[in-house]
Amino acid sequence: MNDETMITVENLKVHFVTWKGVVKALDGVTFEIRKNETLGLVGETGCGKSVTSLSIMNLIPPTDGTVVEGHIYFENIDMTNPLVNMKKPDVWLKYGRKGKVKLKYNRRRYVKRQEFVNKIRGKKIAMIFQEPMTALNPVLKIGYQLTEPLIYHSKNELAMRILSRIDINNANFSDMVDAVLNNKEDKIKSYLEDPKLKPLMEQLRSIMFRKDLTRLQKSERMNNIRNDKPLNSLERKYLEELVENNGHERFFWRFPIIHRIVFKRIIMEAERKAMELLNLVNIYNADIILKEYPHELSGGMRQRVMIAMALANDPKLLIADEPTTALDVTTQAQILDLMKDLKYRIGSSILFITHDLGVIADIADRVAVMYAGNIVEIGPKDDIFYKPKHPYTQGLLKSIPTNKTMKEKLHVIPGSIPNLVNPPAGCRFHPRCPHAMEICTREKPVMKEIEKDHYVACWLY
Ligand SMILES: Nc1ncnc2c1ncn2[C@@H]1O[C@H](COP(=O)(O)OP(=O)(O)OP(=O)(O)O)[C@@H](O)[C@H]1O
Ligand SMILES: [Mg+2]
Repeated sequence: MNDETMITVENLKVHFVTWKGVVKALDGVTFEIRKNETLGLVGETGCGKSVTSLSIMNLIPPTDGTVVEGHIYFENIDMTNPLVNMKKPDVWLKYGRKGKVKLKYNRRRYVKRQEFVNKIRGKKIAMIFQEPMTALNPVLKIGYQLTEPLIYHSKNELAMRILSRIDINNANFSDMVDAVLNNKEDKIKSYLEDPKLKPLMEQLRSIMFRKDLTRLQKSERMNNIRNDKPLNSLERKYLEELVENNGHERFFWRFPIIHRIVFKRIIMEAERKAMELLNLVNIYNADIILKEYPHELSGGMRQRVMIAMALANDPKLLIADEPTTALDVTTQAQILDLMKDLKYRIGSSILFITHDLGVIADIADRVAVMYAGNIVEIGPKDDIFYKPKHPYTQGLLKSIPTNKTMKEKLHVIPGSIPNLVNPPAGCRFHPRCPHAMEICTREKPVMKEIEKDHYVACWLY
């Protein structure tokens, strides 16, 4: 791991215990995501893309399965065992006689690990889940679900937003509005570097994202940003305390009644930010949506709420599991823009999981191709698209319909994805591979670098 990597996944093996046997869902997945890059992860359904992302998030249900081998390093923390002093694992497989396997877990240790990971999850690493209906809590209003991560992780940033809006003088403010309206990149950048002005700048910029507003409407909205109620001295003291102590409360929590009053400011600000986030993902009646329950929204809307939630705390690593599959093309394009902006603003890295190779071509820097729990090829986008080496990647690319192949029969890769309880020995792709050799049935191929930065796991090379 060097300075350039954001997260390293090393030889990750994840097993699930089911009544049919042990599902070997991941079989030694190795890759890294560098700083400020988008890694696209593609592969057929059931090949383990979601399991990879769930393991990074520590979200594999302890009643179903666990990481049995391997490491995930994020900022020098091993996410597979984040509490280094925890010698015994919290979830493990117990192999009994007659080949019986049971999944055991220690509740106390599991809770301890989750408490630790909670500080990272949603703040530094965020995820857009594949199925919004299962990821959103059905009994809580959208407003609560959106503001909770903001209040949990970044009270200090919310406090800073209020202070920066109230304390800025008029001349400075109109200069900022001017910079945003006229797209003066250097000026915007210098404002973003000033910690006091950054929150305000970001608020102004979030309005610019709305394509349906005219310039006049935009400038009007920007000027409306500062219609706050003035702060009284207690509130100011509370907010300044939050900023100084990095979001921890040292003084006011001892006085519950006063605390309840000053804390309202933070809640209101979180709601305000939640509305901005919803605006960012093209939901404009945000004040109504915040009061609704997930089941009252359409599928695409839920998906966008999930995206807003993931973007809430400006994560360093964003995992997007098929984020745009349920959306129409215009919204999809806007979401992709949003992710590019996240990369530009805070240098985030993105793991982008999708079936849609067109989207990958648009957004990814590098592409990893996955098959039955293994990464079979990984490399720069152009190499993967124009010089694919692994027979599976070649098959995958051939099966995209193009103008040329419109009248012919579409290419399909013969066979289907193997049963992961008893996966084929050697290379897991060999039963479907047109170039299969004898060695492929015996030994698992290792990753080889065949061009600069282009790795493939195949015996052909
Ligand atoms: N909770 C679970 N219990 C048992 N098996 C599971 C569980 N979750 C995933 N699996 C198995 O792990 C394998 C990989 O599943 P995963 O959801 O990662 O696929 P995927 O690549 O995300 O597919 P898709 O593109 O359809 O989302 C599948 O064979 C699946 O059956
Ligand atoms: Mg999936």
